[in-house]
Amino acid sequence: MEDQKVFAPASDNDGPEHLCRGSKLFGPDALCNKVLRKEKLAETVTLLEIQAPLIAAASRAGQFVVVRPNERAERIPLTISDADKQNGTITVIFQEVGRTTKELGLIDEGDCVPDVAGPLGTPSEIENFGTVACVGGGVGIAFLRPIVAALKDAGNNVITILGARDKSLLILEDEMRRVSDELLITTDNGSYGVKGFVTDALRGILDSGRPVSAVFAIGPMPMMRAISDLTRPYKVKTIVSLDPIMIDGTGMCGGCRVTVGGVTRFTCVDGPDFDAHQVDWDELKNRKLAYYEEERLAMERAAEVAK
Ligand code: FAD
Ligand code: FES
Ligand code: MG
Repeated sequence: MEDQKVFAPASDNDGPEHLCRGSKLFGPDALCNKVLRKEKLAETVTLLEIQAPLIAAASRAGQFVVVRPNERAERIPLTISDADKQNGTITVIFQEVGRTTKELGLIDEGDCVPDVAGPLGTPSEIENFGTVACVGGGVGIAFLRPIVAALKDAGNNVITILGARDKSLLILEDEMRRVSDELLITTDNGSYGVKGFVTDALRGILDSGRPVSAVFAIGPMPMMRAISDLTRPYKVKTIVSLDPIMIDGTGMCGGCRVTVGGVTRFTCVDGPDFDAHQVDWDELKNRKLAYYEEERLAMERAAEVAK
């Protein structure tokens, strides 16, 4: 009888707390993805450390979770930026760009995130390449962190390049310095590090003749495309983490399909990492904009309700 209560579906009146009642199977709080730490990293960038022991135990670099910030929200994918297997927590870092990420930003320490599913996606290909360059732009730096750490652990000489529009938007500098052999920083306006783009810094390294065997690039799509165009003539293996629209995150809806090397791939199960030189970037750009009008209306409606 008690178990039936624990696993009963939520009624309309139930808030996220109905998931926090604990379960006899996994112990108290097992069903509650409680936020243990919330930190603002930049004006629109927030870090949440969430209790999720099963996900933390299974997670590997390059994987992601699908979350819903409340029971009426849409599902959105977020990279597992860190996993603490001992404490049973995962860390996600997100930028508030629309309705659902703004709703996620309303969750406080001690609250539960109602749905957290994962780890999803194929882990990044980590091996000893020799010297690797890892390039992160904007919130993409959060996605890059576990990959840089895993590449370092695998014995690579890791040169990390971080880029942001402005110093105030640069995140995780200290954490990235700790896991890299070298760290270069660029800002578009020169407010910190070297003035310019991450592509300028990477070009400098490639032109210097240093033996870079692979490049990992994660950031806004135009940045990843520019890195891909830059490295192609140098014939350096280049991996990017693609971020098309995802719904289920498990290969069932087809929403995240991309064309890579002329073949249709589902980013959520075949990726998110792909060979940058094989990606059909124009198609990805168009598919990402498919719901632009609906996304704008969703934000407008949310703003009206909040008044
Ligand atoms: P909206 O206004 O709905 O959309 C803004 C833009 O975000 C859209 O134009 C579209 O390009 C993109 N987007 C919208 N819905 C989705 C969706 N369901 N799936 C993917 N993209 C969408 N962002 C982070 O800040 N941190 C992360 O760690 C992170 N990891 C990601 C990992 C993967 C594998 C993918 C595919 C995306 C990741 N993103 C991450 C992007 C994040 O999912 C979107 O910013 C978020 O879904 C936007 O939702 P919204 O309702 O707030 O904004
Ligand atoms: Fe549905 Fe990938 S998100 S198939
Ligand atoms: Mg949305």
